[in-house]
Amino acid sequence: AALFACGAGVAFAQDKETRNFLFLGDLASRYNREVWEMSIPAIIMSILIAVATSWALFYSVIKFRERKGEVREPAQFHGNNVLEIALIAVPFLIVTVLAILTVRTMVRINNPDIYAKSLRGEPVQVDVLAAQFWWNFTYPQLGNIANGNEMVMPQGRAIRTNITSRDVMHQFWAPNIGGQRAAIPGVQKEYTLDIERPGIYQGNCTQLCGPSHANMRYKVVVLAENDWNAFVTAARAYRAPVPAPGSSEARGQQIFLQGKNGSPSCAGCHRVQGLQGAAGLAGPDLSYFASRNTLGAGMWEGEAARERLKEWILNSPGLKPGSLMPAYRNVQTGKSLLSEQDLDDLEAYLLTLKLPPAAEYWNKVP
Ligand code: CUA
Repeated sequence: AALFACGAGVAFAQDKETRNFLFLGDLASRYNREVWEMSIPAIIMSILIAVATSWALFYSVIKFRERKGEVREPAQFHGNNVLEIALIAVPFLIVTVLAILTVRTMVRINNPDIYAKSLRGEPVQVDVLAAQFWWNFTYPQLGNIANGNEMVMPQGRAIRTNITSRDVMHQFWAPNIGGQRAAIPGVQKEYTLDIERPGIYQGNCTQLCGPSHANMRYKVVVLAENDWNAFVTAARAYRAPVPAPGSSEARGQQIFLQGKNGSPSCAGCHRVQGLQGAAGLAGPDLSYFASRNTLGAGMWEGEAARERLKEWILNSPGLKPGSLMPAYRNVQTGKSLLSEQDLDDLEAYLLTLKLPPAAEYWNKVP
């Protein structure tokens, strides 16, 4: 409890530049409110115990200290039934009260009915896929729209996450919207979450899962109801734009779909909604890649992400240890499989993959 209080006190941080919230005790989410309510009696008990035991300690030390010139032996006691029963009963009582509080809270935070019950609408289903070292968020009730590494959700409405992993154990944790949730391969775990304030919240994998565990981050972008509706409408209707024939973007699309100089294609591993032949599920969804603000599962944001895009395409494992995306280099010679022109074309194409302005979720948060 004391740890939680300290965390709540010092862990509030909002990066002005990236507008990220990271706050363990954010009371805008139901989960955190439940934990906080449990913590108050526990904190009070901790303070009372600390005061009582400190008092007993200092009282004894001062009152019964050896005074100058004193040589007598202190009083000796053997056995005291009342004291011994009390010394067992009191801690037992304390632990029982803490256990009741904890179990009660655990039952409540795992009960979907308490989340956003009085708030708008049915819960939104989000399938969360964790993989080394990225995230995919799919909305099965909303036409299977999907986004990689940025989870968009509505404010003040419960979301029901269905969390699983493709490979090893990961852990889904965006402290503002609730506690850590394990992502276990072969297991689907349902959890409900909510938050009442729009904003951008930091999420991290919190289970050591390989060389880029620390680079397995995500954003939770919480939108006001009308912005959320605009996002869903546009995302459902989204089709990857068709580049003008002969343009740089068209050449980029060609490389995206088929690779070049024997390199693997992007489409083999990445899905793009509405693009024939781009249905790969081995990597994060790229449907509206250019609407995202992060690159490499949250390794870079904003300008830094844009600047690294070409380098990322060329040599992802060089930038992110353990990344399964191949380096576009000849293994023997180390020579790039893509020319500077190819990279420009590919970048130009990727930057066309974006939502209409009305649905650009990153611009909608305060
Ligand atoms: Cu995934 Cu750590």
